[in-house]
Amino acid sequence: MSRVAVVTGGNKGIGFAIAKGLCQKFDGVVYLTARDETRGLAAVEHLKKEGLKPKFHQLDVTDDSSVNTFKKYLSDTYGGLDVLVNNAAIAFKNDATDPFSIQASETVKVNYFSLVRVCEALFPLLKPHARVVNLSSSAGHLSRIPGAELKARFANPDLTQDELDQIMREFIEAAKTNSHQESGWANSAYSASKVAVSALSRIQQKQFDKDAREDLVVNAVHPGYVDTDMTSHKGTLTPQRGAQAPIYLALLPKNTDIKGKYIWHDNTIIDWVNDPLPTPY
Ligand SMILES: NC(=O)c1ccc[n+]([C@@H]2O[C@H](COP(=O)([O-])OP(=O)(O)OC[C@H]3O[C@@H](n4cnc5c(N)ncnc54)[C@H](OP(=O)(O)O)[C@@H]3O)[C@@H](O)[C@H]2O)c1
Repeated sequence: MSRVAVVTGGNKGIGFAIAKGLCQKFDGVVYLTARDETRGLAAVEHLKKEGLKPKFHQLDVTDDSSVNTFKKYLSDTYGGLDVLVNNAAIAFKNDATDPFSIQASETVKVNYFSLVRVCEALFPLLKPHARVVNLSSSAGHLSRIPGAELKARFANPDLTQDELDQIMREFIEAAKTNSHQESGWANSAYSASKVAVSALSRIQQKQFDKDAREDLVVNAVHPGYVDTDMTSHKGTLTPQRGAQAPIYLALLPKNTDIKGKYIWHDNTIIDWVNDPLPTPY
């Protein structure tokens, strides 16, 4: 049966470039997924005109029924999954007028809890040697957490997913009373969500290490500062360049040592707890 790769949020930006690169380099079927069918199909047509052969499936990461429909489709059609790139995310603009409490709950809902939803649904389908790539950010490095106590909770090597979920619920609660900074957070919902994605990747790798399936690998990646809608096209790297490290991680060879890590856009491994944040981003 065919090997299968899935990219979430594949209709534009870095996700589109990852889907394109995987069509060129991955030995199997590539699913470009999108929450909006029209935008997703248009992206697939675009790649087909370039001679590539992506497939499309609708996937809204915030929607249980959409995620479960896709899970069943993959299971029925292929019986498994080899590469999962969790790319879909949102970021409020700097000049957004939405109250911080709304920005916090929406951003953490999409970027963290919905990524968790996708993983919980699709991880049972992962085949031996599967590769999972979680799109974090330079904003997702632990040094982005100013509070020492909060930082220590994130850094705890024994942190569990339940505890991490709880930390993120606490962030949403603190944001409601605008007391998040007193609780040790920076004033950025996006950064909070991406620190959680990085922390989650470490926890997921520990779970994979205990899994009966051989050589399951997950890493978090900062793709660089990329020219996409998310950055209002201020990013300096092309989407193709931004896709470089995620594709590298999606295609890591069998029995790689690069697992449970936080990877910079030039493929270097950054110690998420102890290293300073590289510059420029
Ligand atoms: N650009 C950068 O400089 C940069 C830097 C660091 C990290 N990142 C990370 O890289 C990833 C891609 O960013 P980007 O710059 O390419 O962003 P983007 O251009 O805004 O694209 C985001 C993608 O996510 C999709 N998406 C949003 N909500 C979704 C949902 N509920 N279900 C499914 N898909 C959803 C969007 O779909 P719609 O078109 O339907 O909205 C779009 O396809 C993100 O995880 C981002 O945080 C980006």
